Amino acid sequence: MPTPDAGLLLRGGRLVTADADGPADILVRGGRIEAVGTDLTAPNAAVRDVRGKIVIPGPIDPHVHIAWPYHEARTADTFRSATEAAAWGGTTMVIDWAVQRGESLLDAVAARRAEADGAAILDYALHGTVTKVTATLRSELPRLHDAGVAVLKLYMTYRRRGIMADDGMLWYILNAARDLGYTVSVHAENPFIHEWNEAELRAAGITGAAAHGLHKPPIVEAEAIHRVIYLAREARCPLLIRHVSTAAGVDLIRRARAQGAEVTGETCPQYLYLTEEVFRRPDGYLYICSPPVRTDADRLALWQGLADGTLSVVGSDHAAFPRAAKVGATAFDVPNGLPGVETRVPLLYAGVRRGHLTPSRFVEVVSTAVARLYGLYPRKGAVLPGSDADLVIIDPEEQRALHASSLHMAVDWSPYEGMALRGYPVTVIAGGRIVVDGDAMADPRPAGRFVPCPRRAPSRAAPSLAASPAP
Ligand code: URP
Ligand code: ZN
Ligand code: ZN
Repeated sequence: MPTPDAGLLLRGGRLVTADADGPADILVRGGRIEAVGTDLTAPNAAVRDVRGKIVIPGPIDPHVHIAWPYHEARTADTFRSATEAAAWGGTTMVIDWAVQRGESLLDAVAARRAEADGAAILDYALHGTVTKVTATLRSELPRLHDAGVAVLKLYMTYRRRGIMADDGMLWYILNAARDLGYTVSVHAENPFIHEWNEAELRAAGITGAAAHGLHKPPIVEAEAIHRVIYLAREARCPLLIRHVSTAAGVDLIRRARAQGAEVTGETCPQYLYLTEEVFRRPDGYLYICSPPVRTDADRLALWQGLADGTLSVVGSDHAAFPRAAKVGATAFDVPNGLPGVETRVPLLYAGVRRGHLTPSRFVEVVSTAVARLYGLYPRKGAVLPGSDADLVIIDPEEQRALHASSLHMAVDWSPYEGMALRGYPVTVIAGGRIVVDGDAMADPRPAGRFVPCPRRAPSRAAPSLAASPAP
C-alpha cells in the first residue's frame, strides 16, 4: 500500500464529477488531490491502473443516526462500525446529529464529538437538532458555528417523544437562523393528523405493520411541507426538507423553487426503491420508518425530482435497528428507521443503470450537492487540486447481490435482501488513505476528523408569499 507522502497516481480511469465526465489521471499526495489531468507522471508515486473504472469524488451521507436512542431502543452501531460500513459501501464522510437533550445544544455537540473522535474511520460533521428553546439555547445560537454546526434540524412531529417543534418554535428558529447564517432542516410530518389516525386505527383493532402507512398518508407529509415552506419563505430562511417521500412533497418543493424560494429537498433510497407492499410481508414491521414508504407513483416522482433538480441530495437516514429491536406491542410502538449507510451509493448508482440519473447527476446528489449545502465545497465533493483526497472507484461491471450476511452494518437484515446490482464501489480512498480495497478493509484506523461546517453568507432575499401567487 502506498504511503500518502510517496503519492498515489490513479491512471487511466473515467472521472465523473457533477459537471464533467471523461478520462483523467489523478495524483494524490499528503491527503489531498495534487493534480488532475491526462498522462500525469509522478516518479515516486505508486501507480494504480484504473482503466475501465469510474472515479468519483467521495460521497457524503448527510443523514445518519449512529448509536441513536429511540425510546428504550438504541441503534446497534458505533461511530467506528458505522463508518466502516459506510466505507464498504463507497461513502467517505458522514453527517450525524447532535440532539439537544436538555438545556444546551453545545453540550450535545461536545458529547457527540467525544463519541466520534478517535472512533470514526471517516471524516464526519454534525448538525444540531433543536428540541427546546431554552434560555441556554437562545444564548448558544450565535455561537453554534464556532462549534462547527451550520445546519439545524427541527422535528415537526414526535410530539409524544417531547422533541417536536411547534409552529411558534419553528418561526423563532427560522428567523434566528436567517440572521445567524444557518440552514434549517425539518422532519416534515403533521402530528395531529397521524395521531388522530392512530387513535382511529387502534379503536378499530388495526395495529399491524400496514397501520404504520395508514396512519401517515401523504397528506401528513404534504401539509407539513406546505406549511414549513410558507414559514421559511416569510422568514427568508434557507430550508432543507428531509427524507421527502411523496409525489405531493416533490410538487410543493418544485413550485416553491420555481418561485425563487431557497428550499432544497433530500430523499432516501428506501423511498426510491421500496413501496408499501413491504408492509404485507410477514416481517413487514421491519420496514417501519417515518415517513413511511409509499406507492410506485411516489417512487417514480422522487426519481424524477432528483433528475430534474427539484430534490438536491440523497441521505440514507441510516438507523441500524437489528430485528430484535424492531418490535413493539403495535406498529405504532416499533422503533422507526432502516439501515442504509452502506447501500446508499450502490443503490443510487443502480439508478444510473436503470436510466433515472445521468452519471454526473448521481455524483451530484450523493456528493457534490451535499458538500455545497454544508459549505464544504470544494474541500469535499470535488476532484480539484487542493480538495481532500476522498475518492471512490466504481467498477461498473462488478456484480453483487445485497445480503445482510455480506454487508457490514450492525444489523441482521437488509431492506434490499437479494437485490442484484451491476456496478459497485470497489476501492475507497478517504483523506488519501486507501480504506477499502476490493474485499479487504485496508485501513480501519480511526483517523476520521471532525469537519466544521462554516455558516453561509447572509440569506438572499426570497420573495414573500404575500407578494407571489399561491403555490
Ligand atoms: O424513521 C426514521 N426516519 N427514523 C430516523 C429518524 C428520523 O426521523 O429521521
Ligand atoms: Zn426525520
Ligand atoms: Zn433521520
